[in-house]
Amino acid sequence: MSAYSDEARIDREIQVLFRRLPIAVGHASELARPGDFITHDASGVPLLVVRRDDGGVDAFVNVCRHRGTRVEPAPRGNKRAFSCPYHGWTYGKRGQLVTIPHERGFACVDKTTRGLVRVAAGEAAGLVFVTPSPLSPDEDAALDARAWLGPLAADLEGFGVASSVSYAPRSVERALSWKLAIDIFLETYHLRPTHKETIYPMFFDNLGLVDRSGPHLRNVFPKRTIKELAHVPESTWTLRAHANVLFHLFPNTLVLVQPDHAAVLHVWPNGAGRATVTSYLLVPEPPDSEKARGYWDANAAVLYGATDEDFAMGESIQRGVASGANREVVFGAFEHALAHFHGTIAERTRDA
Ligand code: FES
Ligand SMILES: [Fe+2]
Repeated sequence: MSAYSDEARIDREIQVLFRRLPIAVGHASELARPGDFITHDASGVPLLVVRRDDGGVDAFVNVCRHRGTRVEPAPRGNKRAFSCPYHGWTYGKRGQLVTIPHERGFACVDKTTRGLVRVAAGEAAGLVFVTPSPLSPDEDAALDARAWLGPLAADLEGFGVASSVSYAPRSVERALSWKLAIDIFLETYHLRPTHKETIYPMFFDNLGLVDRSGPHLRNVFPKRTIKELAHVPESTWTLRAHANVLFHLFPNTLVLVQPDHAAVLHVWPNGAGRATVTSYLLVPEPPDSEKARGYWDANAAVLYGATDEDFAMGESIQRGVASGANREVVFGAFEHALAHFHGTIAERTRDA
C-alpha cells in the first residue's frame, strides 16, 4: 500500500513523471490568439504558457530573473509583455528581457542572458504539453507531443478533441493519492455498485475493452444501446453514440469522449495523500445562448456528479491505507488496465 502513502516514493514520481515527461496543462482553445497566456502551478513548477505570433506555444518558468518574484499573477489573459510586479523588469512574449528600470544600476547584466527560463512545450490533438523542467539556454524547447501520444493523437483528433473549446472548468482538491484518482477510471468493475443511481443504467455491468498504446491506454465502455446495432450496417452508426471512449494519457490526463462532446481531467499530486483534479468539458463551439449553456451545464453536472462518486471511493481507500489491513491491493482480471498503469509507473521511475 506504500504506492498510495509513501512520501518518498510519491516524491520520486513527481520528480520523474511530472518533471521529465510531457504533461498536458490545458487545451489549445485557452490560448486561441497570439499573446493569450495561461499560468499553471499544479505541476509544482510555476509556469507561464504563451501563444506565439506564429501559432506555436512557448512555456516559461514564471519567475523573475532579477530576484525571483512571480512575474505573471493572473490565471489567464492576453498581453504583449509581462512585467514583474516587484521592480518592473519586463519580458516580451518570447520571454526575452526587454526593460530594466534604472538600467544603469545593472551595468554588468547582459539582458540577452536574463530572459525567462524556458521549459519544453508543444501541442498535439488540441492539448498543450509541457515538460516542467527548466532548460538551459542551449537546449531545444520544442516538444514533440505528437510523438509522445503516438497513434492516440489521430484518434483524439478524429473525435474532434483538437477543434473543440473548453467549457465549465472546475478544480477540486481531494484527500487521495493522485494514483487513486486515476485508478478508478480504468475499470468498469465498480460501475454498478458505485454509480448505481446515476450513470450505471446506461452501461453494462463490468464491460470494458482496453487497448494499450505505449504508456497510454484507450478504454471503450459500451452502452446498452449498442445491442441495437447488431444488424445495422456499420456505415450508418458511430461508436461514440453507443460507447464512451476514455483515453488515459500517461501519467495524469484522462480524456472521456461522449456522444457530442468530451471531458478532460488532469490529476496533480499534492504530496502523498492529496490530489488536485482540474477538469473541463470540450464542446464543439463556444455556447452562445442560454439554451446552449444550460445544455452543457447539465452535462457538466452529470460528469462532476459521477466523478465525485468516484473520488469518494478513492478517499475511502486512502483512509484505509493507514489502517494496515492490506499489505497489498488485489487487481482482478477485469482490472488489468490498473496493472498496466502501476507497472508503467514502476518501470519509468526505476529506469530514470
Ligand atoms: S524581482 Fe522582478 S523585477 Fe525585481
Ligand atoms: Fe466511476
